[in-house]
Amino acid sequence: MTRLAGKTAIITGSARGIGRAFAERYVAEGARVVIADINLEAAQKTAAEIGEGAIALPIDVTSQDSIDMCVNEAVKQLGGIDILINNAAIFTAAPIDEIERRDYDKVFAINVAGTLFTMQAVARHMIERGQGGKIINMASQAGRRGESLVAVYCASKAAVISLTQSAGLNLIQHGINVNAIAPGVVDGEHWDGVDAFFAKYENKASGQKKKEVGEAVPFGRMGTAQDLTGMAVFLASDDAEYVVAQTYNVDGGNWMS
Ligand SMILES: NC(=O)c1ccc[n+]([C@@H]2O[C@H](COP(=O)([O-])OP(=O)(O)OC[C@H]3O[C@@H](n4cnc5c(N)ncnc54)[C@H](O)[C@@H]3O)[C@@H](O)[C@H]2O)c1
Repeated sequence: MTRLAGKTAIITGSARGIGRAFAERYVAEGARVVIADINLEAAQKTAAEIGEGAIALPIDVTSQDSIDMCVNEAVKQLGGIDILINNAAIFTAAPIDEIERRDYDKVFAINVAGTLFTMQAVARHMIERGQGGKIINMASQAGRRGESLVAVYCASKAAVISLTQSAGLNLIQHGINVNAIAPGVVDGEHWDGVDAFFAKYENKASGQKKKEVGEAVPFGRMGTAQDLTGMAVFLASDDAEYVVAQTYNVDGGNWMS
């Protein structure tokens, strides 16, 4: 398993969850990876647990200074960046009449502006370096269709799909492939938070929504972070050279497009 031998990657929000699984798999495939997260302590713990091949750096994707410092430091420590996964994101839910502007601003600052400006910083480096690169954005099935209680998060993920299309078309001239992964429902700490929102707004017992969404997946269960790693390796590999501006569903059959 050395499909990413000699490659370097920054994965935002990889202290835990899906990003962590990507980092573990990338290192197993021969890459050196930056665990870039707003929670530096958790990122350092994750990097230490992954071992050789992983380093931790702080990043807050809502801050341009923080993005620039992380990318510059990653370039310095790894000698250049071949792969970026824009994975950091937060979830929120509320009926339309209860959405708060500061909640909207925070979700869009992280999920949308964070994705765009981290992509820009790494793309600038890749263009200057002249060796192309691979950028993978984390979208969601939530970006394919609005959901009654999830307007803000759904809109943020629809924006990620759109940014992937525009950036994919713009950056391929530099040999930079930009694509996205749209997971369905993936078990982990993130979904524990999602479950809590539905417990509140749909009057469900804790854990009930999670059980329901898992049973509704055509595959027969919720996804795991590991279910997504194959696509993340493919999109970062030389095999994906002719794949441009696409969003791939990896969701057990929840969505078809
Ligand atoms: N879990 C799911 O069911 C699911 C489904 C579809 C899409 N996704 C997407 O997959 C990605 C990963 O999801 P997850 O379930 O692993 O989430 P998670 O909540 O477990 O992890 C998110 C990570 O991002 C970090 N983070 C938060 N704000 C940040 C900021 N401002 N700057 C840098 N890092 C920040 C957190 O510290 C955390 O480590 C996200 O983009 C999410 O929207 C998840």
